[in-house]
Amino acid sequence: MYYNGRELNEGAQEQSFKEIMMIKGIGVDILAIGRMEKMIAGDARFIRKVFTREEIEYCASKAKIAQHYAARFTAKEAFFKALGSGWRYGMSWKEVWVENNQLGKPEIRISGKARHHFDEMKFKKIHLSVSHTEEYAVAFVLIE
Ligand SMILES: CC(C)(COP(=O)(O)OP(=O)(O)OC[C@H]1O[C@@H](n2cnc3c(N)ncnc32)[C@H](O)[C@@H]1OP(=O)(O)O)[C@@H](O)C(=O)NCCC(=O)NCCS
Repeated sequence: MYYNGRELNEGAQEQSFKEIMMIKGIGVDILAIGRMEKMIAGDARFIRKVFTREEIEYCASKAKIAQHYAARFTAKEAFFKALGSGWRYGMSWKEVWVENNQLGKPEIRISGKARHHFDEMKFKKIHLSVSHTEEYAVAFVLIE
């Protein structure tokens, strides 16, 4: 077996197989911040139905609240796209949530039916990147 133009011995082969990323799914989503502002303002239940307590606390602590809600909403949508199934199997919005690590890097966490489906598909790892401006939020998810 060759890797980066180099012939690998058995040990190196095993190591490189472990390191090779197997992309199982990708998903992207974009949302106008204005739409999120309307969703937040229009229905008080919407926030509690879609976002976890921690997500609500995170967004509420920011100056431009709707941008952070929009980022999380697009992250959830992008994850469902990356799963390949979309939003099915009785999954709920709060079974997929975003946590920011100590450096601020966002990470997708899953539970319940979303976790069950993820494991059943033998998926292993989720990567997330989000960005937002005054007008739009966008999220990209990659599943290994
Ligand atoms: C992390 C960083 C890239 C965010 O970029 P940004 O243009 O400020 O903001 P964006 O709207 O594109 O992205 C914001 C999202 O980045 C994500 N983010 C924050 N820290 C991150 C990190 N360490 N790694 C990956 N993603 C990160 C968050 O999800 C954040 O959204 P959230 O708070 O709603 O979760 C930026 O703050 C940074 O560190 N830049 C380095 C260069 C720099 O310091 N430039 C400023 C001086 S010119």
